[in-house]
Amino acid sequence: MQRLSQSPRDPDFVADPYPFYDRARRSGPVIWWEDYGMPALVSHAAVIAALKDRRLARVPPDGLPPFPNTLADFGRVESLSLLSLDGPAHTRLRGQVLRDFTSRRIAGLGPEIERLCHRLIDAFPADPFDLIPAYCAPIPVIVIARLLGVPDTASDRLLAWSHAMVAMYRPGVAPTEADAANSAAAEFHAWLSDEAEARDPRGTDLLSALRAAEQDGVLSRDETIATAILLLNAGHEATVHALGLSIARLISTGAGFRLTRPDQVSDTVEECLRIDAPLHLFTRHVHAETEIGDVRFQPGAQLACLLGAANRDPAAFPDPGAFRPGRAGVPLTSFGAGVHFCLGAPLARLEMQIALRVLFARCPDIRLAAEPRIADIYHFRGYQALPVAV
Ligand code: HEM
Repeated sequence: MQRLSQSPRDPDFVADPYPFYDRARRSGPVIWWEDYGMPALVSHAAVIAALKDRRLARVPPDGLPPFPNTLADFGRVESLSLLSLDGPAHTRLRGQVLRDFTSRRIAGLGPEIERLCHRLIDAFPADPFDLIPAYCAPIPVIVIARLLGVPDTASDRLLAWSHAMVAMYRPGVAPTEADAANSAAAEFHAWLSDEAEARDPRGTDLLSALRAAEQDGVLSRDETIATAILLLNAGHEATVHALGLSIARLISTGAGFRLTRPDQVSDTVEECLRIDAPLHLFTRHVHAETEIGDVRFQPGAQLACLLGAANRDPAAFPDPGAFRPGRAGVPLTSFGAGVHFCLGAPLARLEMQIALRVLFARCPDIRLAAEPRIADIYHFRGYQALPVAV
């Protein structure tokens, strides 16, 4: 296994991680990433194999390490998140959420999402302006708030709590960030607990459904809250970045016009998601000996699956840096694979298809007003600001 160094805080890497991924892939499907102190999988085949391998799991073989007292509130939510569970506990909770997160319910949100997009465009400020706060950020948070059945007016608070908590998933968390994440988790938990308590379990929103499961003894109160928080956090952060990256890509390639053709919307969004994955790295723990990409992994080892690298693997996607909607063949890795495959993928796809189609239909002359700035948030990838004129 070739050992490679690359700081995830290096501004050139954050702006464009793909040259490093290409260099890594040239040494084989698995490299040792010095800065993370673990093997990293960079080929599409290796990433998919790892995500689907039941000998690998999100949590270490002897469970999550205990959270320090200073992170007790964060830990209370985090330890019950679907992303911190494996095996039967994960299957039970995921099954419960999937029951309430049906494709029919998701598809039924279409007209509401479309109205929201139009309302936001009607309120665009004068040119030039930043499209992230004006369009990309509000759509996912308002949609997930409505799905859960919490008021739109709570969006700003939800965003602030979510940002504070999500900061914990990045390398090199500062003590002040950890404190902020813990306070956000405590406030978020208390607020949602009150919301759930006030809910009629026969209601039609997701929080009511979770509350009904709680009354039936299927979920505990902490599980209801942890699930609602995960849906809010996972449901908006990645989608905001995906929207920003896609809009910049469609403007710079001149491909936005494709969205005016109904039969090309889905392919265009898929190619946006492939070429500009918003989440780049997820780790797995080895529970039983396994071999991936010619490397044998022993129980206790941890490895990184580089989703962004897999999506640009030329063995899976010929000429991977070219934007070519309608590519046939292997699936993209942006939503993961296997038992933790993104539960919100149908919703994220629907939001993106509607938001991009409406934007390019209403603003056919949209252009970049300045070079967009990538945020220093690896292993997420997204724009800090996306200045446009419409
Ligand atoms: C473009 C937007 C999105 C992207 C790129 C994305 C990506 C991902 C990925 C890669 C995973 C798997 C993590 C792993 O295997 O370790 C995941 C899991 C998950 N996502 Fe998404 N996601 C998006 C939007 C959403 C939305 C809108 C929701 C919900 C409303 C959502 C809810 C979840 C949940 C609950 C999980 C955990 C599933 C489990 O562990 O069983 N995501 N997402």
